[in-house]
Parts: sequence; structure tokens; C-alpha cells
Amino acid sequence: MWEPQGMYSKFLLKQPTILFGENALMGLKTYASARVSVIFGSSIDDGYKQKLANALSSFEVSFVKKTWLGEPTLETLNTTIKKIEEFQPDLIIAIGGGSVIDGAKMVRTYYEFPFFDARETSFSMLNWKTTFVAIPTTIGSGAEISSASVMYNENEKTKEFVISHQFIPEIIVLDASLIENAPKRVLLASMVDALSHAIEGYMSTIDNLLVDSYAEKAIQIISQYRHVITEGVEKEFINKLQLASLFAGLVQNHCIVGATHALAHQMSSYGLSHAGAIALFLPAVIKKNIGSPQPKARFDQLAKHSGFAGGSDLLSFVEDFIAEVDLTKEKDTLKKNRKNIISDDYFFEQALNDKGGQGNPVPMDKEFLVEVFNAASS
Ligand SMILES: [Fe+2]
Repeated sequence: MWEPQGMYSKFLLKQPTILFGENALMGLKTYASARVSVIFGSSIDDGYKQKLANALSSFEVSFVKKTWLGEPTLETLNTTIKKIEEFQPDLIIAIGGGSVIDGAKMVRTYYEFPFFDARETSFSMLNWKTTFVAIPTTIGSGAEISSASVMYNENEKTKEFVISHQFIPEIIVLDASLIENAPKRVLLASMVDALSHAIEGYMSTIDNLLVDSYAEKAIQIISQYRHVITEGVEKEFINKLQLASLFAGLVQNHCIVGATHALAHQMSSYGLSHAGAIALFLPAVIKKNIGSPQPKARFDQLAKHSGFAGGSDLLSFVEDFIAEVDLTKEKDTLKKNRKNIISDDYFFEQALNDKGGQGNPVPMDKEFLVEVFNAASS
């Protein structure tokens, strides 16, 4: 369902409004609306709901707790869709992690287009009547700027990506107060995921000069503010990291990431978090890719444009950053399952076919992935 490359500029140059900084939430005051539905997960309390309600210029606000767990299915979305249909909002707010935001994208789609068919590719140009606002309560994944909604197909028992650039919210609120109390380990791992989006997207087979600048800026910000995570948190700096993560998410969204993601996605069936698995594979994938001249030149360019002396400095930065993340559990899981995975053709077949990993600059085959896997698990 990806639009042709020539149309990317339409979506790249039509960016959502990004509200950030002190009192970012109050920026919503300027968007007058009649009825607002707020779809939320478990992560916000009554105090924050009140704060959000106070920030809105609307006649009526309804809070709807999401009815799905993990990736949404058509069935689990249904109760929420019904509540939204009854309330008839003109503004929909999703507040939560990736699964809340992804589910809300589909709720809005079925509310406005009840005949929507996720398998039908010609539905990619949707003209909305509602305004959609995303307020992420996590950092790193880039779900708030993603054109994809990850759904779970009950019948096939598989994850499915429903994709349209029209899913990108009209407004994104980056509220640092939602992130600042996250455990340090989660923050660090999330920033490694953001780094991987910028690096893999920049080095991918899809080249886009405009997107390059977002990747360079994301890495420059993360390297400049890394002390926030190791030393202590100041709201203003967390907000900058939220912004860097959004830029990196935009790079991932338009350029498609590579082997790190192809392998990391397969590790979710072994109980590893996305960010934890990314941290395991990223250095090994970079090293393997820069063994070829063109990817090496791209990596050097990315390093220089984001404030490093060269590629080896950026690689050391990535490795030092990952060394600060406690990956004991992930490494143990990898070692324990190493033999089984290496002899499991299906694991590597799935990785090679992974939609989210098709942008690797060096063509991937099983041998390539096994080498990366060995390097990461040794
Ligand atoms: Fe990722």
C-alpha cells in the first residue's frame, strides 16, 4: 500500500503540528471542536485526564478506555468503535503507547469509513472529517509518526501491517511529563531503538535527501543529550529526546529499516522486547554493512553530518550507548536458544521476508543473517 516514491514529498512536506516544550498540552486549546473522544490505555491517571480536559476547547469530552490488549484485532477494536460511533466526535485523541495509537488509527478509520477493507490497497487516500491527535506516553518507537498500524490477525495468527500515509496524526503532543518517570533502562533501550531507526533508515536502499536531514538531526540530538539518561533527567532535555525519536521515526517511516529490525522482529516470540532485541543486533549489523564500500560511505557521511569525526566514532558511540543498557536477560535468552535458532530455517526465512526489514543496503540472504546472529550472540 506504499505510495510511489514521487508522492513521498506530499507527505514529507505536509508534517503534523508538533506541540512540545513547557505546557505543550495547552497548545490543544487553539483547536476548537464540538465533541472530543479520548482513547487511552492504562498509563494515565485521573489527574492527567483532568489536565487534558482543561486543555481542550470543546463542548463535550468522552474518555474511552481501549478494549484491546497488545496488538488490536478487528474483534477487540469493535467495542471502542461502537462507543466512538455513538458519541460522534469531531476530534479523536489517542493517548498511550504504540498499541493505543495504532488501535486508535484503525478506530478512526472504521468510524469514518465503515466499509474499510484492510486488504484493499486502493484505500490509501482517505479524506478525514475528524482531526486525530496522538499523545505518546512512550518514547523511541515512532508510532506517533508512523503510517502503519500493526494489527493481529486472529485467523492467521500473524501480525499484519495496515499502511496509509493518511494514518499520520494531524497533531502530535510531546509531553515530557509523561516520559520523565519511565525506568532508566526502558528510556535507554528506547533511545537505542530511535538510533536504529535513524541509522538503518539513512543507510537503507531508499534514498531521500530530505529525510537524510531528519536522521542527522536525530543522531546529533541523542548524542548531545545522552547525559540526561545517565546522569539525571531534566524535562527540557527529555523533550528534546522525544523530538529526536520522532525525527528518527519519520526516517524509518519513509526509508524502511534493515537487518537489525528483520532479526529483532523474530525475537518477540522468544519474549524479548523490541528495543532490547534491537540493542542486541544493531552493532553487528552496522559492522557487517560497512564491510561494503557504498554503505560505509553512507555511514561515514551520516557520522560527519551529525557531529562525529567519522564512522568509527559514531559506531563507538552506538556501542558505548548500548553498553549502558542492562541486556542480561536478552543475552541469556539469545545464548540459550542460539543452537536451535541457527538450525531453524523458518526463523531466517521469516526474517528475510519481514516487511519491516527490506531496506538493508547489502542484499540479505540466510548466510548474511546467520553471520550477524553469530556475532551478536557470541
Ligand atoms: Fe524499531
